[in-house]
Amino acid sequence: MSAIGGTTPQRAAPTRRAARAEFPDWRFAPNIGVHPDSYELENQAVDRAGHVLTAMRAIAPWRGRTVVDLGCGAGYWLGSYAREAARVIGVEPDPALRAMASQAAAALPKTQVLAGSAERLPLADASADVVHARFAYFFPPGADAGLAEVLRVLRPGGRLVVVDNDYRHGEFARLLAAAAARPPLETAAAVDKWWRDRGATRHEVRSELQFASRADLATVLRIEFPAEVARGWLRANPTATGLSYAFVLFAVTA
Ligand SMILES: C[S@@+](CC[C@H](N)C(=O)[O-])C[C@H]1O[C@@H](n2cnc3c(N)ncnc32)[C@H](O)[C@@H]1O
Repeated sequence: MSAIGGTTPQRAAPTRRAARAEFPDWRFAPNIGVHPDSYELENQAVDRAGHVLTAMRAIAPWRGRTVVDLGCGAGYWLGSYAREAARVIGVEPDPALRAMASQAAAALPKTQVLAGSAERLPLADASADVVHARFAYFFPPGADAGLAEVLRVLRPGGRLVVVDNDYRHGEFARLLAAAAARPPLETAAAVDKWWRDRGATRHEVRSELQFASRADLATVLRIEFPAEVARGWLRANPTATGLSYAFVLFAVTA
């Protein structure tokens, strides 16, 4: 879920240049930005049992509420929220991904997609009940401006729920470790401390990535990890079509 490699496609470059000026906090995400179809395979594979949505719902129920999906990407998760929410607003700074999310939203009830970023939310003060950020923007440190902006748009008692990788548990975490410059336990401790200092609660969810085919698994490993890391894992696991995966959720109440 953390983007490590990739390049910006030439065709989208001018529009993306304008968006970079409009949303200076936008960080291009190569995994989904270059490979939206492969990232969709990853979203389909991750957590088929729905443990994460269950945990998110327990932390901040969205039935009858206004939900913001911050950094909604191509809009894969908007439908899961729209089934219960009173209103769903996807916010996405990348114009190419935003166009895909808008297309997805057109088929959903009470759902719209807006241009914006974590530090520039196009929403009124105290206008949302739940803000979800799924592998988007909140990679501490350096996320205080976005947190302040989210707290501005949340109603009193509303919640931000951030979905992140668990750097300690599961095979995916071992792949992240193999690809990372910094020891993952250090990263995990620093991330936990950043959120703790801001009054967040922390929730672990153990799950798995389970693919329809080995080819899909290989495709996704290649967008998430350097080629030699992906190749090494595939060689060591010659029949696998999935791998264990763990999430950490952080929640802050306005
Ligand atoms: C790894 S993708 C995840 C997309 C989506 N949340 C999902 O789970 O399918 C990260 C997303 O965060 C967006 N993003 C990057 N910088 C951002 C920012 N400053 N504010 C909001 N979103 C941002 C990217 O454009 C991309 O859509």
